[in-house]
This record gives sequence, structure tokens and C-alpha cells, in this order.
Amino acid sequence: MAMKDYQVKRMFESIAFSYDFQNSFLSLRRDSYWRRVMAQCLRLPGKALVLDMATGTGEVAVEICRHHPKTEVIGVDFSPKMLTVGRRKGKFKKFASRIHLSLGDGRRLPLKSNSFEAATIAFGIRNIQERDQALKEFYRVLKPGGQLLIMEFDIPDDPLLGNLYRLYFDYLLPPLGNWLSRTNYAYSYLASSVHDFPNEQGFLQEMGRAGFTSLGVKKLTYGVAKIFRGIKSA
Ligand SMILES: C[S@@+](CC[C@H](N)C(=O)[O-])C[C@H]1O[C@@H](n2cnc3c(N)ncnc32)[C@H](O)[C@@H]1O
Repeated sequence: MAMKDYQVKRMFESIAFSYDFQNSFLSLRRDSYWRRVMAQCLRLPGKALVLDMATGTGEVAVEICRHHPKTEVIGVDFSPKMLTVGRRKGKFKKFASRIHLSLGDGRRLPLKSNSFEAATIAFGIRNIQERDQALKEFYRVLKPGGQLLIMEFDIPDDPLLGNLYRLYFDYLLPPLGNWLSRTNYAYSYLASSVHDFPNEQGFLQEMGRAGFTSLGVKKLTYGVAKIFRGIKSA
């Protein structure tokens, strides 16, 4: 069930109103923990500028500011409604002077080359059909030595856990998520887009082809979420 970029955008526009609640409820609040770990994985030189691509409602941007007090974050997303929901949140307002949200497309970032110490994208790259283009854009805007962290969903490697998780992910989550988001497709799309995403090695190779080195993966919650990391060589 592949979707074109305008369909993905329309979907996020329509589910923005309760996106944070859906995530938290359907992941049993694991999503906050995963974003916290992602922010903690960032290695920043004190004062730094970080790009959070596909920032959505700004949850990752907030976590980065919380863990890195001298950092400023530019959050980019192509859904105006997701950004609006983000700006209205109390926790966002607390860091409003350090988070700058802006409309933009990950395949053509409206940002200068070599300008960020680090870049993040959580649960966003899977939605971009032209992944190679998005990875090249990350590479372009990072400073030499800059760090890229990409978080995505996966199925646990352990066969028993994997099968149990599939029962939830393929059969329970789509109808429940569709009902919560008042759509008949958003969470069916989530499940199919996770299955369509390359496996761990395949995605690391894509990062390597975009120029990233020192590649690695951190598994969270038995591999339900994974953080891929890479460095733009100095
Ligand atoms: C699943 S949400 C993740 C939001 C946020 N990173 C989080 O952790 O909750 C995916 C986001 O990617 C955005 N997105 C998808 N394709 C995009 C693109 N080509 N350019 C910019 N944003 C995009 C969507 O609008 C949506 O807000």
C-alpha cells in the first residue's frame, strides 16, 4: 500500500488533531521513551544547531532541547497542521525560543549546506518514497563530522516475539488505530509501510551510498524501534 507524497501529507493533515494521543496510546507510552533515548544518543559539542526532519508535532525537538540545554533545533515538516498542533503544546512553549518550526519537504530542504551539527528523523523516512534523495539532503545540510540519527519501526528479530508482535501490529493495531484517528487507512498504511521498509542491512547500505560512515544500529524494546546512526565524514 504505497502512497504518493501528497497522499501522505493529506493523511497527516487529517490525523494531526490526535496524533500525539494515538502514538502514546498505541505504543503504551513507549514512544516517549524511544524519543528520549534518541535525544540522549546525540553527541553534541555544547552549543549546536540540530535539524529535526519530519518533526510533526515537535516531540523529538522538545526532547533534544530538554537533554541538550545549549542546542537550538530547526524542525521541518510538510504538514502545516502537524506543526500547528506542535506549537500549541505546553511543553513546546517551554522551549519555544530554541525550537524553530518551518514548512519544508525532506527531499528538497530549504536549508543551507554544511550548517547543522546533527540531524534527526523519527518515524518519517519510511513515508518518503525518494529515500535516497532525502538521505542526500541530510548529508548536504550536515557539517563535516555531523551526526545523523534515524528512528524507524521494525519487527523484533526473535521468532517468538516477532510472531506475537505481528499479531498485534498486523491485526489489532490497524483497526484500532484507524478508529482512533477517524480514518479507514492511516494505521493500515503504517503496518504496510513498515513491512515495505528495507531490512536493517539494506537500510544501512542506503545510508552508506548517501555517503555516511561509522554506521550502526541501536535496538529499542526488543527491536520494535531502531535508531540508525551515521556520520558525514570530516
Ligand atoms: C509519523 S510522523 C512522525 C512525527 C515525529 N517525528 C514524531 O516522532 O512523532 C511523520 C511525519 O513526517 C512528515 N513527512 C512525511 N513526508 C515528508 C516529507 N517528504 N517532507 C517533510 N515531512 C514529511 C509528515 O507530515 C509527518 O508529520
